[in-house]
Amino acid sequence: MSKVTSKFVCQSCGAISAKWIGQCEVCKSWNTMIEEVHDTPRHKTQVPSDFFKTVSNSCDDYVRNTTVFEELNRALGGGFVSGEVVLIGGSPGIGKSTLLLQILLNKISCIDTYLYISAEESVTQVSMRAKRIGVDNQQLLIAATSSLEQICAALEKSCEHSIVVIDSIQTIFSSLIQSPPGSISQVRYCTQELINIAKKKGIIILIVGHITKDGEISGPKTLEHMVDCVLYFEGEKAYDYRVLRCVKNRFGPTDEIGVFSMESDGLHEVQNPSAFFLSEHNENVSGVSVFAGIEGTRPILSEIQALVSYTNVAIPKRSSIGFDSNRLAMLVAVLSSRCRLSFANRDVYLNVAGGLRIVEPAIDLAVIAAIISAYKQKPLSAGSVFFGEISLSGEVRQSHCAYIRAKEAKKLGFSEIYCSYKTEDFDNQIDIGITKIKNIIDFNKNI
Ligand code: TYD
Ligand code: MG
Repeated sequence: MSKVTSKFVCQSCGAISAKWIGQCEVCKSWNTMIEEVHDTPRHKTQVPSDFFKTVSNSCDDYVRNTTVFEELNRALGGGFVSGEVVLIGGSPGIGKSTLLLQILLNKISCIDTYLYISAEESVTQVSMRAKRIGVDNQQLLIAATSSLEQICAALEKSCEHSIVVIDSIQTIFSSLIQSPPGSISQVRYCTQELINIAKKKGIIILIVGHITKDGEISGPKTLEHMVDCVLYFEGEKAYDYRVLRCVKNRFGPTDEIGVFSMESDGLHEVQNPSAFFLSEHNENVSGVSVFAGIEGTRPILSEIQALVSYTNVAIPKRSSIGFDSNRLAMLVAVLSSRCRLSFANRDVYLNVAGGLRIVEPAIDLAVIAAIISAYKQKPLSAGSVFFGEISLSGEVRQSHCAYIRAKEAKKLGFSEIYCSYKTEDFDNQIDIGITKIKNIIDFNKNI
């Protein structure tokens, strides 16, 4: 026997009331009181004798299900783990459905049931896409439904070694929740039900999530907390390449990326991203530098372009694409204050070529180099690559993985790296020149 009690909780401030009221008495918000029913058990809860297990017992089946895409396996930290729930977000039309269908069309190790549940497209439309990709998998089954109850009933029958795609969570709805599909309660409830099934049956579930205009997966942030792995599929529609970025991973490292290019027959892996992003690099132009970056564990070289132009406007513009504008403003301030370069009547524009977005602070030195080169209208010396974080005092700080960056630069034919004075020596391990910089004041004088 259990005792059921109910109370009304304000969703805005958490105030509790015994009966329903239209306006919260504490925070004065309207229509925020929601009933919460509590079931108090009269009996003591029993736990089985093997409730707690030792670490080695509970991770017997830690097998990686590797896909045909090496880039995806890398982003996942080796491959899917059974019972894993992965959320994939991205702007509309970026290629989420294409990527997931392509994953299922190709064989995945240890998987023998491939299910694609589309709540956005009909079975014919998904089949047309599969035909366009041109890979055939007789084991792939497609269903078009948006009912969570139907999906759960179907998944209850499937066994372990299954992979399921749900496209998308915002269009799935449960008849037990009153609010419309895509609302916070629907999205949260449907995700929780799918996670329960995945954990119970050990099946892998890949969920597509739409993103808001701010670039985050729509629905509550808790959605990202609930799932095991969160991937973002990014890219500019104007460019063919797409970056799969892992932002959360319970079974592997985060910050890994996978690079793909969208072609007429689906997505293809980009084996050498640095060569891809530098394909149009021209060394004899002022305002252009090359940054040796690290994405996850992998080095990626990219081109940084700067333009410094005169303006009569009282507040000159600092604008950037692919790089944080506030950081650009800070670097311009450091340059004007430490190197005595005047930016008072000059606009500064910065662009990371190819539409790449870089958040690593080591890009600072490459940005400074491009801006100084644009300011002086003088190309940087040929074959140079830059990395290093700049502090407000103008000091160049050390960056991690210097050796990996230098090796990648050498591989792509660069002959000189510019980095912090604290960078370790490579002891003739790579045949590349190293210019160590202590402060951007000396660096500015030598350009
Ligand atoms: P889609 O997977 O439908 O995007 P999302 O699910 O993220 O909304 O991708 C649609 C875009 O991809 C569309 O603009 C066409 C393009 N595309 C190709 O260029 N080649 C292809 O083989 C496929 C299937 C799609
Ligand atoms: Mg889609």
